[in-house]
Amino acid sequence: TELSKIRNFSIVAHIDHGKSTLADRLIQMTGTVAERDMQEQLLDSMDIERERGITIKANTVRIEYPAQDGQTYVLNLIDTPGHVDFGYEVSRSMRAVEGSLLVVDASQGVEAQTLANVYQAIEADHEIVPVLNKVDLPAAEPDRVREQIEDVIGIEAHDAVEISAKTGLGIPDVLEAIVQRLPAPKGDRDAPLKAMLVDSYYDAYLGVVVIIRVIDGVIRKGDRIRMMRTGGTYGIDRLGVFKPAMQNIAELGPGEIGFLTASIKQVRDTRVGDTITHEKKQCATPLPGFKPAQPVVFCGLFPVDSSEFEDLRTAIEKLALNDASFSYEMETSAALGFGFRCGFLGLLHLEVIRDRIEREYDIELITTAPSVVYHIYTRDGAMSELHNPADMPDPATIDHIEEPRIKATILVPDEYLGDVLKLCQDRRGIQLDLTYAGSRAMAVYDLPLNEVVFDFYDRLKSVTKGYASFDYQLEGYRQDTLVKMQVLVNDEPVDALSMMVHRDRAETRGRAMCEKLKELIPRHMFKIPIQAAIGGRVIARETLSAMRKDVTAKCYGGDATRKRKLLDKQKAGKKKMRQFGKVEIPQQAFISALKMD
Ligand code: GTP
Repeated sequence: TELSKIRNFSIVAHIDHGKSTLADRLIQMTGTVAERDMQEQLLDSMDIERERGITIKANTVRIEYPAQDGQTYVLNLIDTPGHVDFGYEVSRSMRAVEGSLLVVDASQGVEAQTLANVYQAIEADHEIVPVLNKVDLPAAEPDRVREQIEDVIGIEAHDAVEISAKTGLGIPDVLEAIVQRLPAPKGDRDAPLKAMLVDSYYDAYLGVVVIIRVIDGVIRKGDRIRMMRTGGTYGIDRLGVFKPAMQNIAELGPGEIGFLTASIKQVRDTRVGDTITHEKKQCATPLPGFKPAQPVVFCGLFPVDSSEFEDLRTAIEKLALNDASFSYEMETSAALGFGFRCGFLGLLHLEVIRDRIEREYDIELITTAPSVVYHIYTRDGAMSELHNPADMPDPATIDHIEEPRIKATILVPDEYLGDVLKLCQDRRGIQLDLTYAGSRAMAVYDLPLNEVVFDFYDRLKSVTKGYASFDYQLEGYRQDTLVKMQVLVNDEPVDALSMMVHRDRAETRGRAMCEKLKELIPRHMFKIPIQAAIGGRVIARETLSAMRKDVTAKCYGGDATRKRKLLDKQKAGKKKMRQFGKVEIPQQAFISALKMD
């Protein structure tokens, strides 16, 4: 395809503002998919994505569009994830295209991820076309939102396209705007091959599928290619485009986006941002590349039923094949037995993986307290990363500890601002900025990541009745007084419940944890002390009193069936228990105890 007939773009939006619905409409209206094959949210391929309505992996689609000028254009859409955990994937897909549609819900206005994502587009030098969606809603205020886009984001919005992705209104205008307002890609067909590795995923039938954007030169089926950063060389088995079903193609030239397969064994062999060139005739300089996504939240995953450990290993290995940003290593816990310590990009990423293991592989899991990565400086001047509170070295050898901090941007209607500020304050936040745009406030906070990983989203949503939006980026490490808090049940430490906390927050946390456990652990025949401790010092304590009588004692008279039923019930309940010394703790207690406040 001629360069002047190509437009490459992505859609940036806050969650739920209608990005996927718009993508579906664009595909549908250009007849890319036959009407009968049209399925809502075509681009969200994984079930879990569909269920939760979130887009996780970047997806691409090639659309052929006969424009009003009589020419047919090839429009390549790269779908980017909208959630805060996946900001990194947004930035890398952005580099593969020249423009963005900025979708804003005309009844909601600009939200935190609108900002975060549009800034990435601006950074990638994109031409941006603002699109006001959901104008079919009675609450839509396109004029106000237009103004807000200009005030808050600082881009021209008077010629924003008004649409309803739901009814189809305005979709032809979007297609024309893509052709007329976004730039065509640049590239040299005669230069040596230079293509960007945009993304890759594992397909059970095809092996690793690599999504590429050709910058210069031409790539053909059968070519021998070299990945410049990893040094790997491969022969191309298959070359194609997504429409959105895979379709083979003989070659891809400059400006084009498509996929290749080349008998690559695992996703880890492909580095996103790598430069693909011909094995023999190489291009002179590789592309700048990207920094790999680093896991920032770690937690332990253990099977409830310890005989399922091998099944868990298989599940984790399979998931990791398709997700290079998910890391794992084996872990043993005195209380929980064999499991894995896993690293994630954020809490949502953690939840998605945990859900998939439970649902797709049918393994019930115990998840330990999520922890961030601490930097531990010992007295001898060495620094080590701490991924697991259980590995904390002897405090006497530690000089100081640093924790990761984030810069959080929160947008919220005025009336809830007070609650949001209080929440941030409670979580050791430092206010960096507070501005107003219309009836919304934008608060920017410097917060410790460890205060956010527990339940910050949940709390934020609940104090603002769901009206706040939130986005963050990692800012770096800072020293603070952090300690390891242990939980002891019947004088036995339960390592799965130990956590790193700020000294000033330890008592509150410890007390809350003990109170919660007291409710969650069933009574035994003896008294059980539940304690939180730092080092050898107890900072909170509760006592679970002993059970007074046998449960069956309630059944006065001789109702044998009733008695049998009760005993059976007790036995069934036991299956979901874990034994800690002499005490049995129900699995639910771990999950609940770790949700704070
Ligand atoms: P993520 O995939 O989570 O990033 O969300 P998204 O931005 O892709 O939003 P999605 O397309 O899933 O739309 C969110 C909700 O808004 C869905 O329930 C849509 O049906 C609805 N929606 C999308 N466009 C319109 C519209 O033009 N009008 C109305 N009334 N509803 C819309």
